[in-house]
Amino acid sequence: MQDRTPRPEELEPVERISVDELRARQLERLRWSLRHAYDNVPHYRSAFAAADVHPDDLRELADLARFPFTGKAELRENYPFGMFAVPRERIARLHASSGTTGRPTVVGYTRDDVRTWARLMARSIRAAGGRPGDRVHVAYGYGLFTGGLGAHYGAEELGCTVIPVSGGMTERQAMLIRDFAPEVIMVTPSYMLAIVDELERQGIDPKTTSLQVGIFGAEPWTEDMRREMEQRLDMHAVDIYGLSEVMGPGVAVECVETKDGLHLWEDHFYPEIIDPVTGAVLPDGEQGELVLTSLTKEAMPVVRYRTRDLTRLLPGTARTMRRIEKITGRTDDMMIVRGVNVFPTQIEELILRTPALSPHFQCVLDRQGRMDTLTVKVERRPGVAEDEAERAGAALVQQVKSTIGVSVAVQVIEPDGVERSMGKMRRIVDQRRGR
Ligand code: DLL
Repeated sequence: MQDRTPRPEELEPVERISVDELRARQLERLRWSLRHAYDNVPHYRSAFAAADVHPDDLRELADLARFPFTGKAELRENYPFGMFAVPRERIARLHASSGTTGRPTVVGYTRDDVRTWARLMARSIRAAGGRPGDRVHVAYGYGLFTGGLGAHYGAEELGCTVIPVSGGMTERQAMLIRDFAPEVIMVTPSYMLAIVDELERQGIDPKTTSLQVGIFGAEPWTEDMRREMEQRLDMHAVDIYGLSEVMGPGVAVECVETKDGLHLWEDHFYPEIIDPVTGAVLPDGEQGELVLTSLTKEAMPVVRYRTRDLTRLLPGTARTMRRIEKITGRTDDMMIVRGVNVFPTQIEELILRTPALSPHFQCVLDRQGRMDTLTVKVERRPGVAEDEAERAGAALVQQVKSTIGVSVAVQVIEPDGVERSMGKMRRIVDQRRGR
Protein backbone atom coordinates (compact mmCIF):
# COMPACT_ATOMS: atom_id res chain seq x y z
CA MET A 1 0.00 0.00 0.00
CA GLN A 2 1.23 3.49 -0.85
CA ASP A 3 2.11 5.84 2.01
CA ARG A 4 -0.67 8.40 1.89
CA THR A 5 0.13 10.45 5.02
CA PRO A 6 -0.34 14.18 4.33
CA ARG A 7 2.73 16.34 4.93
CA PRO A 8 2.46 18.56 8.05
CA GLU A 9 2.61 21.74 5.95
CA GLU A 10 -0.45 20.57 4.00
CA LEU A 11 -2.67 20.63 7.10
CA GLU A 12 -4.76 23.63 8.12
CA PRO A 13 -3.16 25.46 11.07
CA VAL A 14 -6.25 24.68 13.20
CA GLU A 15 -5.57 20.94 12.85
CA ARG A 16 -2.45 21.47 14.93
CA ILE A 17 -3.42 24.13 17.49
CA SER A 18 -3.01 23.35 21.17
CA VAL A 19 -5.86 21.93 23.20
CA ASP A 20 -6.03 25.17 25.25
CA GLU A 21 -6.37 27.30 22.16
CA LEU A 22 -8.99 24.92 20.82
CA ARG A 23 -11.07 25.09 24.02
CA ALA A 24 -10.94 28.90 23.99
CA ARG A 25 -12.13 28.97 20.39
CA GLN A 26 -14.90 26.49 21.16
CA LEU A 27 -16.17 28.54 24.10
CA GLU A 28 -16.34 31.69 22.01
CA ARG A 29 -18.12 29.90 19.15
CA LEU A 30 -20.48 28.04 21.46
CA ARG A 31 -21.61 31.32 23.02
CA TRP A 32 -22.33 32.66 19.55
CA SER A 33 -24.17 29.51 18.48
CA LEU A 34 -26.44 29.32 21.56
CA ARG A 35 -27.28 32.99 21.22
CA HIS A 36 -27.97 32.59 17.49
CA ALA A 37 -30.30 29.62 18.12
CA TYR A 38 -32.09 31.40 20.97
CA ASP A 39 -32.57 34.65 19.08
CA ASN A 40 -33.77 33.13 15.83
CA VAL A 41 -35.46 29.78 16.42
CA PRO A 42 -38.69 29.84 18.47
CA HIS A 43 -38.19 26.20 19.44
CA TYR A 44 -34.87 26.93 21.19
CA ARG A 45 -36.24 30.02 22.88
CA SER A 46 -39.06 28.06 24.47
CA ALA A 47 -36.98 24.93 25.19
CA PHE A 48 -34.32 27.04 26.97
CA ALA A 49 -37.03 28.83 28.96
CA ALA A 50 -38.61 25.52 29.96
CA ALA A 51 -35.20 24.32 31.20
CA ASP A 52 -34.66 27.67 32.93
CA VAL A 53 -31.45 28.47 31.08
CA HIS A 54 -30.33 31.39 28.96
CA PRO A 55 -27.36 31.65 26.55
CA ASP A 56 -25.69 34.05 29.04
CA ASP A 57 -25.54 31.17 31.54
CA LEU A 58 -22.74 29.57 29.53
CA ARG A 59 -19.55 30.64 31.29
CA GLU A 60 -17.49 27.55 30.56
CA LEU A 61 -17.89 24.63 28.17
CA ALA A 62 -19.17 22.31 30.92
CA ASP A 63 -22.18 24.63 31.41
CA LEU A 64 -23.57 23.23 28.17
CA ALA A 65 -24.83 20.27 30.24
CA ARG A 66 -27.57 22.56 31.63
CA PHE A 67 -29.09 23.11 28.20
CA PRO A 68 -31.86 20.89 26.84
CA PHE A 69 -31.28 18.12 24.29
CA THR A 70 -32.63 18.22 20.76
CA GLY A 71 -33.80 15.06 19.01
CA LYS A 72 -35.37 13.89 15.78
CA ALA A 73 -38.80 14.46 17.36
CA GLU A 74 -38.17 18.21 17.68
CA LEU A 75 -37.02 18.41 14.06
CA ARG A 76 -40.14 16.54 12.92
CA GLU A 77 -42.45 18.77 14.96
CA ASN A 78 -40.97 21.76 13.21
CA TYR A 79 -41.20 20.21 9.73
CA PRO A 80 -40.21 21.43 7.23
CA PHE A 81 -38.47 24.75 7.92
CA GLY A 82 -39.28 25.60 11.55
CA MET A 83 -35.75 24.96 12.86
CA PHE A 84 -34.13 27.44 10.48
CA ALA A 85 -32.44 30.45 12.04
CA VAL A 86 -32.26 32.56 8.88
CA PRO A 87 -34.98 33.78 6.48
CA ARG A 88 -35.89 31.13 3.90
CA GLU A 89 -34.41 33.24 1.07
CA ARG A 90 -30.95 32.83 2.63
CA ILE A 91 -31.16 29.04 2.43
CA ALA A 92 -28.92 27.94 -0.43
CA ARG A 93 -29.48 24.19 -0.11
CA LEU A 94 -31.89 21.70 1.40
CA HIS A 95 -31.20 18.08 2.26
CA ALA A 96 -33.36 15.54 4.05
CA SER A 97 -32.80 12.25 5.73
CA SER A 98 -35.12 9.53 4.58
CA GLY A 99 -37.31 8.69 7.52
CA THR A 100 -38.41 5.11 6.92
CA THR A 101 -41.62 6.01 8.71
CA GLY A 102 -43.38 9.36 8.66
CA ARG A 103 -41.84 12.68 7.79
CA PRO A 104 -38.21 13.00 6.84
CA THR A 105 -36.05 15.45 8.75
CA VAL A 106 -35.18 18.49 6.69
CA VAL A 107 -31.93 20.41 6.99
CA GLY A 108 -30.88 23.71 5.42
CA TYR A 109 -27.59 25.44 4.61
CA THR A 110 -26.66 29.03 3.82
CA ARG A 111 -24.02 29.66 1.17
CA ASP A 112 -21.45 29.99 3.93
CA ASP A 113 -22.61 26.72 5.51
CA VAL A 114 -22.11 24.97 2.16
CA ARG A 115 -18.60 26.47 1.97
CA THR A 116 -17.74 25.37 5.50
CA TRP A 117 -19.01 21.89 4.74
CA ALA A 118 -16.93 21.71 1.54
CA ARG A 119 -13.84 22.81 3.47
CA LEU A 120 -14.42 20.27 6.24
CA MET A 121 -14.94 17.53 3.68
CA ALA A 122 -11.73 18.57 1.89
CA ARG A 123 -9.95 18.39 5.26
CA SER A 124 -11.50 14.95 5.83
CA ILE A 125 -10.53 13.55 2.43
CA ARG A 126 -6.95 14.79 2.92
CA ALA A 127 -6.80 13.24 6.40
CA ALA A 128 -8.06 9.97 4.89
CA GLY A 129 -5.21 9.98 2.37
CA GLY A 130 -6.69 11.83 -0.63
CA ARG A 131 -4.56 14.44 -2.41
CA PRO A 132 -5.08 17.31 -4.82
CA GLY A 133 -4.97 15.88 -8.32
CA ASP A 134 -6.43 12.48 -7.31
CA ARG A 135 -9.38 11.12 -9.22
CA VAL A 136 -12.23 10.60 -6.74
CA HIS A 137 -15.01 8.14 -7.61
CA VAL A 138 -18.10 9.16 -5.61
CA ALA A 139 -20.53 6.24 -5.26
CA TYR A 140 -22.52 7.68 -2.36
CA GLY A 141 -26.03 8.54 -3.54
CA TYR A 142 -26.63 12.05 -4.91
CA GLY A 143 -29.88 13.78 -4.02
CA LEU A 144 -31.49 14.62 -0.72
CA PHE A 145 -29.03 12.26 0.99
CA THR A 146 -25.96 14.26 2.05
CA GLY A 147 -23.40 11.59 1.06
CA GLY A 148 -23.00 12.24 -2.67
CA LEU A 149 -22.99 16.05 -2.74
CA GLY A 150 -20.99 16.28 0.48
CA ALA A 151 -18.23 14.10 -0.96
CA HIS A 152 -18.45 15.91 -4.30
CA TYR A 153 -17.99 19.43 -2.95
CA GLY A 154 -15.20 18.30 -0.63
CA ALA A 155 -13.24 16.53 -3.35
CA GLU A 156 -13.61 19.55 -5.63
CA GLU A 157 -12.48 21.88 -2.84
CA LEU A 158 -9.38 19.75 -2.27
CA GLY A 159 -8.48 20.05 -5.96
CA CYS A 160 -9.38 16.54 -7.07
CA THR A 161 -10.98 15.34 -10.29
CA VAL A 162 -14.47 14.30 -9.22
CA ILE A 163 -16.25 11.38 -10.86
CA PRO A 164 -19.90 11.77 -9.72
CA VAL A 165 -21.18 8.24 -10.27
CA SER A 166 -23.76 8.07 -7.42
CA GLY A 167 -25.04 4.67 -6.24
CA GLY A 168 -26.33 1.79 -8.34
CA MET A 169 -25.58 0.16 -11.71
CA THR A 170 -22.85 -1.97 -10.19
CA GLU A 171 -21.50 -3.23 -13.53
CA ARG A 172 -20.93 0.33 -14.61
CA GLN A 173 -19.22 1.15 -11.30
CA ALA A 174 -16.70 -1.61 -12.01
CA MET A 175 -16.20 -0.44 -15.59
CA LEU A 176 -15.57 3.15 -14.52
CA ILE A 177 -13.05 2.05 -11.91
CA ARG A 178 -11.22 0.12 -14.62
CA ASP A 179 -11.39 2.84 -17.27
CA PHE A 180 -11.11 6.12 -15.31
CA ALA A 181 -8.52 4.75 -12.85
CA PRO A 182 -9.53 6.64 -9.68
CA GLU A 183 -7.12 6.73 -6.72
CA VAL A 184 -9.93 7.35 -4.20
CA ILE A 185 -13.40 5.86 -3.83
CA MET A 186 -16.09 7.19 -1.50
CA VAL A 187 -18.95 4.75 -0.86
CA THR A 188 -20.75 2.87 1.89
CA PRO A 189 -18.72 -0.17 3.00
CA SER A 190 -21.57 -2.57 2.18
CA TYR A 191 -21.84 -1.25 -1.38
CA MET A 192 -18.05 -1.41 -1.76
CA LEU A 193 -18.32 -5.15 -1.13
CA ALA A 194 -20.86 -5.46 -3.93
CA ILE A 195 -18.52 -3.55 -6.26
CA VAL A 196 -15.57 -5.77 -5.32
CA ASP A 197 -17.63 -8.87 -6.09
CA GLU A 198 -18.55 -7.35 -9.44
CA LEU A 199 -14.90 -6.59 -10.28
CA GLU A 200 -14.09 -10.24 -9.61
CA ARG A 201 -17.02 -11.37 -11.72
CA GLN A 202 -15.62 -9.31 -14.58
CA GLY A 203 -12.31 -11.15 -14.18
CA ILE A 204 -10.49 -8.19 -12.64
CA ASP A 205 -8.31 -8.81 -9.60
CA PRO A 206 -9.43 -5.98 -7.25
CA LYS A 207 -5.84 -5.70 -6.01
CA THR A 208 -4.70 -4.55 -9.42
CA THR A 209 -7.03 -1.54 -9.70
CA SER A 210 -5.76 2.03 -9.38
CA LEU A 211 -7.55 2.48 -6.02
CA GLN A 212 -5.33 3.60 -3.12
CA VAL A 213 -7.87 4.88 -0.60
CA GLY A 214 -11.48 3.97 0.23
CA ILE A 215 -13.41 6.45 2.40
CA PHE A 216 -16.26 4.46 3.91
CA GLY A 217 -19.12 5.64 6.09
CA ALA A 218 -22.87 6.25 6.51
CA GLU A 219 -23.23 2.91 8.34
CA PRO A 220 -21.32 0.98 11.00
CA TRP A 221 -18.48 -1.32 9.97
CA THR A 222 -15.82 -3.19 11.88
CA GLU A 223 -12.04 -3.62 12.07
CA ASP A 224 -12.49 -7.07 10.55
CA MET A 225 -14.28 -5.48 7.60
CA ARG A 226 -11.34 -3.07 7.25
CA ARG A 227 -8.93 -6.00 7.08
CA GLU A 228 -11.11 -7.73 4.47
CA MET A 229 -11.24 -4.61 2.26
CA GLU A 230 -7.57 -3.74 2.65
CA GLN A 231 -6.54 -7.27 1.72
CA ARG A 232 -8.92 -7.70 -1.17
CA LEU A 233 -8.24 -4.27 -2.68
CA ASP A 234 -4.70 -3.55 -1.52
CA MET A 235 -5.72 -0.04 -0.46
CA HIS A 236 -6.32 1.98 2.70
CA ALA A 237 -9.84 1.64 4.13
CA VAL A 238 -10.69 4.68 6.24
CA ASP A 239 -13.82 5.53 8.24
CA ILE A 240 -15.81 8.76 7.81
CA TYR A 241 -18.73 9.82 10.01
CA GLY A 242 -21.45 12.41 9.85
CA LEU A 243 -25.17 12.96 9.94
CA SER A 244 -27.48 15.28 8.05
CA GLU A 245 -28.91 16.97 11.14
CA VAL A 246 -25.43 18.16 12.10
CA MET A 247 -24.06 18.77 8.57
CA GLY A 248 -23.60 15.55 6.58
CA PRO A 249 -20.40 13.53 6.07
CA GLY A 250 -17.22 15.14 7.40
CA VAL A 251 -18.05 15.60 11.09
CA ALA A 252 -15.30 13.13 11.96
CA VAL A 253 -12.81 11.04 9.99
CA GLU A 254 -9.93 8.66 10.56
CA CYS A 255 -6.41 9.75 9.72
CA VAL A 256 -4.78 7.39 7.26
CA GLU A 257 -1.52 7.30 9.21
CA THR A 258 -3.12 5.94 12.40
CA LYS A 259 -6.59 4.50 11.59
CA ASP A 260 -7.30 4.50 15.30
CA GLY A 261 -10.72 6.09 15.58
CA LEU A 262 -12.18 9.20 13.99
CA HIS A 263 -10.89 12.69 14.69
CA LEU A 264 -13.87 14.93 15.28
CA TRP A 265 -13.56 18.43 13.81
CA GLU A 266 -14.00 20.13 17.14
CA ASP A 267 -13.53 23.63 15.79
CA HIS A 268 -17.04 23.26 14.28
CA PHE A 269 -18.80 20.67 16.47
CA TYR A 270 -18.75 20.27 20.24
CA PRO A 271 -19.09 16.64 21.35
CA GLU A 272 -20.45 15.18 24.58
CA ILE A 273 -21.07 11.56 25.56
CA ILE A 274 -24.15 10.89 27.65
CA ASP A 275 -25.74 7.96 29.36
CA PRO A 276 -28.57 7.20 26.90
CA VAL A 277 -30.97 6.37 29.73
CA THR A 278 -30.36 9.12 32.29
CA GLY A 279 -28.96 11.80 29.97
CA ALA A 280 -26.04 12.45 32.34
CA VAL A 281 -22.80 13.61 30.74
CA LEU A 282 -20.10 10.93 31.00
CA PRO A 283 -16.35 11.54 31.26
CA ASP A 284 -14.08 11.04 28.24
CA GLY A 285 -13.27 7.38 27.71
CA GLU A 286 -16.68 6.08 28.75
CA GLN A 287 -19.05 4.48 26.29
CA GLY A 288 -22.38 6.19 25.64
CA GLU A 289 -24.45 8.18 23.16
CA LEU A 290 -22.77 10.92 21.15
CA VAL A 291 -24.39 14.35 21.48
CA LEU A 292 -23.28 17.15 19.13
CA THR A 293 -23.68 20.93 19.22
CA SER A 294 -22.88 22.96 16.12
CA LEU A 295 -20.50 25.89 16.67
CA THR A 296 -20.63 27.71 13.34
CA LYS A 297 -23.77 26.69 11.48
CA GLU A 298 -25.91 29.61 10.35
CA ALA A 299 -29.00 28.13 8.71
CA MET A 300 -29.75 25.38 11.19
CA PRO A 301 -27.83 25.48 14.44
CA VAL A 302 -28.28 22.35 16.56
CA VAL A 303 -27.96 22.39 20.33
CA ARG A 304 -27.11 19.09 22.05
CA TYR A 305 -28.41 16.93 19.22
CA ARG A 306 -28.85 13.31 20.32
CA THR A 307 -27.29 11.25 17.53
CA ARG A 308 -28.30 7.82 18.97
CA ASP A 309 -24.81 6.67 17.93
CA LEU A 310 -22.82 4.74 20.53
CA THR A 311 -19.12 5.48 20.96
CA ARG A 312 -16.48 6.94 23.32
CA LEU A 313 -14.42 10.13 23.26
CA LEU A 314 -10.67 9.55 23.18
CA PRO A 315 -7.73 11.98 23.23
CA GLY A 316 -6.24 13.15 19.91
CA THR A 317 -3.36 11.28 18.28
CA ALA A 318 -2.59 12.27 14.68
CA ARG A 319 -4.37 15.59 15.39
CA THR A 320 -4.98 17.57 18.60
CA MET A 321 -8.74 17.21 18.31
CA ARG A 322 -10.41 14.35 20.14
CA ARG A 323 -11.37 11.10 18.47
CA ILE A 324 -14.53 9.06 18.60
CA GLU A 325 -14.08 5.33 18.65
CA LYS A 326 -15.46 3.47 15.62
CA ILE A 327 -19.22 3.43 16.12
CA THR A 328 -20.60 0.11 17.35
CA GLY A 329 -24.18 0.88 16.38
CA ARG A 330 -27.16 3.05 17.14
CA THR A 331 -29.34 2.77 20.19
CA ASP A 332 -32.19 1.95 17.80
CA ASP A 333 -30.17 -0.81 16.02
CA MET A 334 -29.70 -2.68 19.23
CA MET A 335 -31.49 -6.01 19.11
CA ILE A 336 -32.59 -7.33 22.46
CA VAL A 337 -32.80 -11.08 22.13
CA ARG A 338 -33.98 -12.81 25.27
CA GLY A 339 -32.55 -10.05 27.41
CA VAL A 340 -29.16 -9.89 25.68
CA ASN A 341 -28.17 -6.76 23.77
CA VAL A 342 -26.81 -7.57 20.33
CA PHE A 343 -25.54 -5.26 17.59
CA PRO A 344 -25.15 -6.29 13.94
CA THR A 345 -21.47 -5.22 14.14
CA GLN A 346 -20.82 -7.97 16.71
CA ILE A 347 -22.22 -10.53 14.27
CA GLU A 348 -20.18 -9.00 11.44
CA GLU A 349 -16.97 -9.45 13.40
CA LEU A 350 -17.60 -13.15 13.93
CA ILE A 351 -18.68 -13.77 10.34
CA LEU A 352 -15.55 -12.13 8.97
CA ARG A 353 -13.43 -14.47 11.08
CA THR A 354 -15.07 -17.43 9.35
CA PRO A 355 -13.37 -17.86 5.95
CA ALA A 356 -16.12 -20.04 4.45
CA LEU A 357 -18.73 -17.30 4.98
CA SER A 358 -19.02 -14.06 3.02
CA PRO A 359 -19.54 -10.63 4.61
CA HIS A 360 -23.04 -10.38 3.06
CA PHE A 361 -25.47 -11.03 5.89
CA GLN A 362 -28.74 -9.92 7.50
CA CYS A 363 -30.20 -10.34 10.97
CA VAL A 364 -33.80 -11.52 10.91
CA LEU A 365 -35.80 -10.98 14.09
CA ASP A 366 -38.93 -13.03 14.61
CA ARG A 367 -41.13 -14.25 17.42
CA GLN A 368 -42.00 -17.80 18.40
CA GLY A 369 -44.70 -17.79 21.03
CA ARG A 370 -43.44 -15.16 23.45
CA MET A 371 -39.78 -15.66 22.59
CA ASP A 372 -37.81 -13.41 20.26
CA THR A 373 -35.60 -15.28 17.84
CA LEU A 374 -32.65 -14.07 15.81
CA THR A 375 -31.66 -15.79 12.58
CA VAL A 376 -28.45 -14.76 10.88
CA LYS A 377 -28.80 -15.21 7.14
CA VAL A 378 -25.33 -15.31 5.64
CA GLU A 379 -24.00 -16.22 2.21
CA ARG A 380 -21.33 -18.82 1.70
CA ARG A 381 -18.28 -17.50 -0.13
CA PRO A 382 -18.25 -18.29 -3.84
CA GLY A 383 -16.12 -21.37 -4.46
CA VAL A 384 -16.69 -22.84 -0.99
CA ALA A 385 -18.45 -26.25 -0.94
CA GLU A 386 -21.94 -26.30 0.58
CA ASP A 387 -21.13 -28.82 3.31
CA GLU A 388 -18.05 -26.86 4.36
CA ALA A 389 -20.17 -23.69 4.59
CA GLU A 390 -22.80 -25.57 6.61
CA ARG A 391 -20.15 -26.63 9.11
CA ALA A 392 -18.92 -23.04 9.31
CA GLY A 393 -22.52 -21.95 9.96
CA ALA A 394 -22.82 -24.43 12.84
CA ALA A 395 -19.51 -23.16 14.25
CA LEU A 396 -20.83 -19.60 14.03
CA VAL A 397 -23.81 -20.55 16.22
CA GLN A 398 -21.33 -21.70 18.88
CA GLN A 399 -19.18 -18.58 18.56
CA VAL A 400 -22.15 -16.25 18.91
CA LYS A 401 -23.24 -18.18 21.99
CA SER A 402 -19.81 -18.09 23.62
CA THR A 403 -18.82 -14.50 22.78
CA ILE A 404 -22.12 -12.59 22.76
CA GLY A 405 -24.01 -14.94 25.04
CA VAL A 406 -27.14 -15.46 22.99
CA SER A 407 -28.57 -18.41 21.05
CA VAL A 408 -29.18 -17.66 17.40
CA ALA A 409 -29.96 -19.69 14.31
CA VAL A 410 -27.63 -19.42 11.33
CA GLN A 411 -28.96 -19.98 7.85
CA VAL A 412 -26.22 -20.33 5.24
CA ILE A 413 -27.49 -19.30 1.82
CA GLU A 414 -26.20 -19.19 -1.76
CA PRO A 415 -23.89 -16.40 -2.93
CA ASP A 416 -26.02 -13.38 -3.96
CA GLY A 417 -28.90 -14.53 -1.73
CA VAL A 418 -28.83 -11.39 0.42
CA GLU A 419 -30.22 -8.34 -1.29
CA ARG A 420 -27.45 -5.87 -2.14
CA SER A 421 -27.79 -2.29 -0.96
CA MET A 422 -26.71 0.57 -3.16
CA GLY A 423 -26.27 2.77 -0.13
CA LYS A 424 -26.90 2.01 3.51
CA MET A 425 -27.40 -1.69 4.08
CA ARG A 426 -30.49 -2.83 5.99
CA ARG A 427 -28.85 -5.21 8.44
CA ILE A 428 -31.93 -5.90 10.56
CA VAL A 429 -35.14 -7.34 9.17
CA ASP A 430 -37.76 -7.25 11.88
CA GLN A 431 -40.61 -9.67 11.24
CA ARG A 432 -42.07 -9.39 14.74
CA ARG A 433 -44.31 -6.43 14.01
CA GLY A 434 -48.02 -7.05 13.90
CA ARG A 435 -47.83 -10.49 15.49
O1 DLL B 1 -25.08 8.99 6.56
C1 DLL B 1 -23.94 11.09 6.27
C2 DLL B 1 -22.76 10.37 5.71
C3 DLL B 1 -22.67 10.16 4.36
C4 DLL B 1 -21.72 9.97 6.54
C5 DLL B 1 -21.57 9.54 3.83
C6 DLL B 1 -20.62 9.35 6.04
C7 DLL B 1 -20.54 9.12 4.67
P1 DLL B 1 -27.57 10.36 7.55
O2 DLL B 1 -28.21 9.70 6.39
O3 DLL B 1 -28.26 11.49 8.19
O4 DLL B 1 -26.17 10.92 7.14
O5 DLL B 1 -27.28 9.21 8.60
C8 DLL B 1 -26.56 9.49 9.76
O6 DLL B 1 -25.63 7.24 9.80
O7 DLL B 1 -26.27 8.97 12.85
C9 DLL B 1 -25.02 7.03 12.04
O8 DLL B 1 -26.00 6.24 12.68
C10 DLL B 1 -24.78 6.50 10.65
N1 DLL B 1 -23.39 6.70 10.27
C11 DLL B 1 -22.87 7.66 9.48
N2 DLL B 1 -21.52 7.48 9.35
C12 DLL B 1 -21.20 6.39 10.08
C13 DLL B 1 -19.98 5.70 10.36
C14 DLL B 1 -25.09 10.20 6.66
N3 DLL B 1 -18.82 6.07 9.83
C15 DLL B 1 -26.36 8.22 10.56
N4 DLL B 1 -20.05 4.64 11.20
C16 DLL B 1 -25.52 8.43 11.78
C17 DLL B 1 -21.21 4.25 11.74
C18 DLL B 1 -22.38 5.90 10.68
N5 DLL B 1 -22.38 4.84 11.50
